[in-house]
Amino acid sequence: MYKFLAKTLFVGQRLIFVPECQSTNSLAVELASKSALPEGTVVITSNQFAGRGQRGNTWQATAGMNLTFSVLLKPSFLSVKSQFALTMVTSLSVFDFLEEKKLDGVKIKWPNDILVGKKKICGMLIENSIQGETINQSIVGIGLNINQTEFSISTATSLSIICGKNFDLNDELNLLLEKLEKRYLQLRSGKQGELKEEYLQNLLSFNQKQKFISNEIEFEGVIKTVNDSGELILNMSGDEKSFSLKEVNFVL
Ligand code: BTN
Repeated sequence: MYKFLAKTLFVGQRLIFVPECQSTNSLAVELASKSALPEGTVVITSNQFAGRGQRGNTWQATAGMNLTFSVLLKPSFLSVKSQFALTMVTSLSVFDFLEEKKLDGVKIKWPNDILVGKKKICGMLIENSIQGETINQSIVGIGLNINQTEFSISTATSLSIICGKNFDLNDELNLLLEKLEKRYLQLRSGKQGELKEEYLQNLLSFNQKQKFISNEIEFEGVIKTVNDSGELILNMSGDEKSFSLKEVNFVL
């Protein structure tokens, strides 16, 4: 079903398509443990029936409508303490993809939801394996809503809803893989500082007041930055506090 035509060096040069599976992330982990797959291998399906999301959530996508795939990376150059860089790489690659589609109001909601306006178009689940001080394998799972127009939750959207037309999944996959490789090479060439700057520039509510909820208590804070481990640093009435993903939610 998917034909690989992207202009990349390695991302997607090996493409493993399965008509259906529980989760492309789980399948990629399994396949990589059984044989030596090259860096950039993509595991993709048309029907992911038990997709996994962040915070233990599920990811639902109607069969044949969207992109649900995982990319195997081997960022052994990256130290464990810098692993959030992979979140920045992936978020920015989806951001670049949507920018090329000329969409207005695209933002990254910390840590890695991609919103158009207030609605989510893409989620990602990055699962790293660590060897010593570095990351020997990263499975970058991306769920990008393309042609689905009806969702069970009102906070989801798709390219088709926004643009009012259907898209060719193969073309969109190729474009997204090109964007992903470009951002990954930026990281590999040591430009982590640049990536962070761009990530912050495109972050929802960066340097602005935003409502959050933590332990059932609502409060306001201003996003100042993210630290190397990916915690959100908020200024709350003059004090800087850091929050991990489990500790805080946005109130939108
Ligand atoms: C989230 O927003 O909670 C993350 C969703 C990640 C979904 C993608 S779809 C492809 C890959 N396989 C999975 O099981 N999950 C990711």
